[in-house]
Amino acid sequence: MLPERVAIVEVGPRDGFQMEKTFLPTDLKVEVIDLLTKAGLAKIEATSFVSPTVIPQMADAPEVMARIRRARGTVYSVLVPNVKGAERAVAAKADGIRLVVCATEAYNQRNVGMSVAESMALIPAIKAAAGAIPVEVVIGLSFGCPLEGAVPEDRVVGLARRIAGMGIPEISIADSIGIAHPVQVRAMVERLGRELPGLQFSLHIHDTRGLGLANALAAMEAGIDTFDSGLGGLGGCPVFPGATGNIATEDLVNMCAEMGIETGVDLVPVREASRRIAEFLGRALPSRVLAVGTREELYRRIEKPAVQA
Ligand code: COA
Ligand code: ZN
Repeated sequence: MLPERVAIVEVGPRDGFQMEKTFLPTDLKVEVIDLLTKAGLAKIEATSFVSPTVIPQMADAPEVMARIRRARGTVYSVLVPNVKGAERAVAAKADGIRLVVCATEAYNQRNVGMSVAESMALIPAIKAAAGAIPVEVVIGLSFGCPLEGAVPEDRVVGLARRIAGMGIPEISIADSIGIAHPVQVRAMVERLGRELPGLQFSLHIHDTRGLGLANALAAMEAGIDTFDSGLGGLGGCPVFPGATGNIATEDLVNMCAEMGIETGVDLVPVREASRRIAEFLGRALPSRVLAVGTREELYRRIEKPAVQA
């Protein structure tokens, strides 16, 4: 059964922007996040507090957090790789902290220079540093890894169980490279719901092989009602050439709207934000709805045939 309502976490300003080689001016980042706020997104992953040497695009994270206009009711969350990141996030008054732990050793080493056990061991210290700010853990590469190949479902479920055991009720299951298919997603989501009831799972999907929205639909049918998506479908993966960005926020919102599922998101400011980024980058973004519009817009464009008497 499909949910009546789906919550969307906008991750473009972090996941999408971090892949861009050209530094996006802080003014533009702030303008885009303010448009996303206007669109009514309940949660926005606004930036990450990571090493500026590793990800120069996120070097202005404190400034971005200081300058965005925050709306009551919107959660401005940030991604962190370690305790230093969490401390910086607290100083910047983030409303939520997401720690990323990859499901494979090779990718976790490549991403944060730590073993999976070392990243997992950071959870209590990050919770302590976060104080009253909710901490969520993202299990990256949950469906497959460009360095190790297949990822057993057991491993992801085991990590989720241990994360929950450390007092983290919100866990994001990430298909970081867009390798999952709908049957695999359904099996994972059903198992997590069965074995770890009471936790709040969300799904983070990339669209590398054109299966993004199909995976989202499979997850909805299996009981997930919170999804990450990114404006315009920006993004990719540094380790997997050809990997594409997140499922586009425009496309997910549109699919939900057409199927009668509420998201509370107004597409107009989201598309405006994507257009600003496309303009700056000088290229079209992957979102289909950004390119062609909604069904209603398409119908409005059709010329009405003259009525025969
Ligand atoms: N924010 C800013 N600076 C940080 C930091 C953080 N969260 N964590 C560490 N640093 C700084 C240290 O203070 C140190 O600075 P110094 O050289 O001026 O003393 C420097 O980075 C090296 O610290 P070290 O602990 O040795 O880190 P590292 O070089 O092994 O890098 C990470 C480890 C985790 C900081 C780095 O790999 C990283 O930021 N990864 C994130 C990658 C990412 O964002 N991936 C995409 C999202 S999943
Ligand atoms: Zn991602």
